[in-house]
Order: sequence, then C-alpha cells, then structure tokens
Amino acid sequence: MPTESKAKPAGSATLTYGNKTYDLPVYGGSQGPNVVDIRKLYGDSGMFTYDPGFTSTASCESDITYIDGDEGVLQYRGYAIEDLAQHSNFLETCYLLMNGELPNKPQMSKFHDTVTNHTMVHEQLISFFNGFRRDAHPMAIMCGVVGALSAFYHDSTNINDPAQRQIASFRLIAKMPTIAAMAYKYSIGQPFVYPRNDLGYTENFLRMCFAVPAEEYKVNPVLAKALDVIFLLHADHEQNASTSTVRLAGSSGANPFACIAAGIACLWGPAHGGANEAALNMLREIGSVDKVPEYVKKVKDKNSGIRLMGFGHRVYKNYDPRAKMIREQTYNVLDALGKRDEPLLKTALELERIALQDDYFIEKKLYPNVDFYSGITLSALGFPSDMFTVLFAVARTVGWIAQWNEMVEDPQQRIGRPRQLFTGETSRPFVQIDKRK
Ligand code: ACO
Repeated sequence: MPTESKAKPAGSATLTYGNKTYDLPVYGGSQGPNVVDIRKLYGDSGMFTYDPGFTSTASCESDITYIDGDEGVLQYRGYAIEDLAQHSNFLETCYLLMNGELPNKPQMSKFHDTVTNHTMVHEQLISFFNGFRRDAHPMAIMCGVVGALSAFYHDSTNINDPAQRQIASFRLIAKMPTIAAMAYKYSIGQPFVYPRNDLGYTENFLRMCFAVPAEEYKVNPVLAKALDVIFLLHADHEQNASTSTVRLAGSSGANPFACIAAGIACLWGPAHGGANEAALNMLREIGSVDKVPEYVKKVKDKNSGIRLMGFGHRVYKNYDPRAKMIREQTYNVLDALGKRDEPLLKTALELERIALQDDYFIEKKLYPNVDFYSGITLSALGFPSDMFTVLFAVARTVGWIAQWNEMVEDPQQRIGRPRQLFTGETSRPFVQIDKRK
C-alpha cells in the first residue's frame, strides 16, 4: 500500500488456480477484519473477483466509523454510540465526524456559529419547490432541490480546493434541515418558515417544520432531545449503500452537492432509508397485538414475499445498538405526549418479543434494526411517514460529507469502476430487420 496508508502489513494469502499460485498481501487496520489486497490480481492472473452486493469487499480505507456487526458495536471516531447519545448532541457529533476529534468549547462555539450562519437558502431556490406537484414525495423534492444547490453555490464546487470543500460541507449540513422543512411545508400547503439563529440545530428544524405564522411555536425539549438523538444515531454508518453511492459519484470528481443528491436517491429505497416508513406501515397493517403471530407466520413463508420490516441488517448479526437507544426515546416521547398506550408501540414490542424467540429469526440472526422503532417515534413527533427518509437524509448528510472529504483527500482514491462476470451473448452477426423472426 502507498506510504500514506495507515494499514499494517499482516502477512499474505495464497490463491491457487490451475497450476498457478498467486501471493496476495494481507493488511490489518486498527480493529476489524484484515483485508486481502487483490488490486494486482487481474493484472497477474486475468481473473476478477466476484462479490455482488460487496458482502466481502472493503472498498476503501476509512478512519471515521467502526461497526462490529457480530457484537452490535458502533463507534464514531472511536467513541461508542451509546456514550455519544448520552453525553453529546448531534451538532457536536457532526464536528467529531468531520474533524476526527471532539471540539473544545471555543471550537464548538465557532462550529455552531458557522453552521447557524449557513442555514438560509438562496431565495430563488423557492421557485424549484413551486415546480413540484403538491403531492410529490418529499424525497423526490429532496433529490431535485439538493442537486440544484450546485447551480446556486458555484463558489464551493471546486473539489480540489480544501477551502471550497469546507464551505460546501458547512452549507450542506446547515441547509439540509431548511430544505427538508421546506419540502414538508410545501407538501401540506403551508408557508415556509425561515430558520432562526437563536435556536439549536434540532430545535430550529422542529420549528421550521411545525411553526405557522399565525401563532407562537414553543419547542418541547423532550421531543427536541429525542429527534436530536435520532439524528445522532443516523449520522454515519461506514460504507452503507448511500455512503458508497456518494463516494462512487464523488470518485469521478463530481461536485459535493451532486454527490449528496445521489446519496439521497439511494437512501430513498425501502431496503435502506425507506425501511422506517415501511416498518410503520407494516405495524399499521398488522393493526393489533393479537394479529402478530399470524403476521410472523406469513413472514416465515418464503412464498409470501413478505419481510419483517425494521428487522435484519447486512452488517449487524446482533441487536442493532441504535435500535435500543431509539426504543428509549420512543418511551420518552410517548410519555411526554401522554401516549404510552399507543397501539403501534404495543404491536412493535410484541412483534419483537415473538421474533426474538422464533427459530427462523434466531438462525438467520435477524434482530430489530434502527428503523424498527424510529417510525413510531417520528410519527409521535408529528411527522407523516413520507418524511421519515427525509429526516434520515438530514442526519446522514454529515456522514456523507465526512466520507466524501475523506475520499477526496485519499491518495489511493481512483474512479470507482467495478468489473463484471459477463454471461450474455457472445459475438454474432447483425441480422437485417426484414430477415429477423
Ligand atoms: N424478514 C424476514 N426474513 C428476512 C429479513 C426480514 N426482515 N431479512 C432477511 N431475511 C432472510 C432472507 O429471506 C434470507 O433468507 P434465506 O437465507 O433463507 O434466503 C436471509 O434472511 C438473508 O437475507 P438477505 O436478504 O440475504 O440479507 P441482506 O444482508 O442482503 O439484507 C436487509 C439485509 C436488506 C436489511 C434485509 O434484512 C431486509 O430486507 N430487511 C428488511 C428491510 C429493513 O429493515 N431495512 C433497513 C436496514 S437498516 C438501514 O438501512 C438503515
């Protein structure tokens, strides 16, 4: 590996194919599995490796987030997610993810001021919203409007200039809640609420979503804390699908706004960020605690094509640590709103209880993931389910940005260009249209 790499040599692996043997270097990181370096394999052997879905492939070296899926461990820059959720807040965690260290007081104060000063969007951006149908899904609006930011902020699209990259990063973290709140307001036909700089990041977002010009809006601190924790828990998750999308888009040199719009598009899918919306819809469909066993039976039937939404994870083969902390916030929010008897919560708890003792789920190591409880909480906070993925995008923006910056600065970075196992037709002669069957 190049000298700039922090990976440590850890021996070599041998691949034998036919009568040839290939020595492949093995490297270790600071924790987690070692990697077999196959970069020279194609040149030496003429063979590719095959790994659809990247289940065994490390696509980059990264210092940001560490997950041990078997043990249910998640760390941002070495700090346990549980400690951050308890002692930190979302904005401080943004600083940590972007800079590698927790800020001291002056650093935090400066960071807070900088983010706060970038929360307003160009007034002309409003015309973009007016171009969407009222019933447009807010994620569709997010894809379009965030992509359009590159048309407004030309002075921060040169990715080779660290100062421009930094301004783009601040702009994205600061403006994403404003755009998300505007997407929501647009969908319900209410006027946009401008950001207020005397409020914290999450309080400001709640106000932009739920305030109306006709009356004062008071932020409930319990609800703000719950949303802040949800943001913090979603801030980064190493090389997940949307982050890998951002990196892949960025690997061609695309500007940060375009890359983040690509990440938003990927996040929209129900197997990724759309799962909390799907999980809530599933709980609603089940309807009541007594219907849970019947539903679990359907999930276990391969022919039904039904999955337990909010269950299972590519990396976590244990309880997703974020799910536990969101469940705690679910209780806090429902208590604060006097809704502890919420039937959806009861259904969710029963579903979890039954699934966790069922052989199907035990054998496949399927546990609740981050999305299982977040839908109930976000719904109790007042968000419609089509806003859930938007909230995820607001939170994940900092992770995307930190990973994108890391990639741009990585001397090993090259355009991302996977290869394929071709199984289509081989060369054949062209047939004129009148001769075709
Ligand atoms: N319900 C029922 N069975 C499941 C579920 C589920 N939620 N998840 C996986 N399985 C089963 C599969 O049918 C498969 O069974 P098989 O081996 O008999 O064929 C086995 O478990 C492995 O499943 P894969 O799809 O191969 O696992 P993969 O790692 O590719 O998928 C995923 C992970 C997409 C998250 C999957 O568990 C899923 O679809 N979960 C529901 C959607 C969801 O909650 N997504 C949110 C993920 S977290 C996030 O993005 C923030």
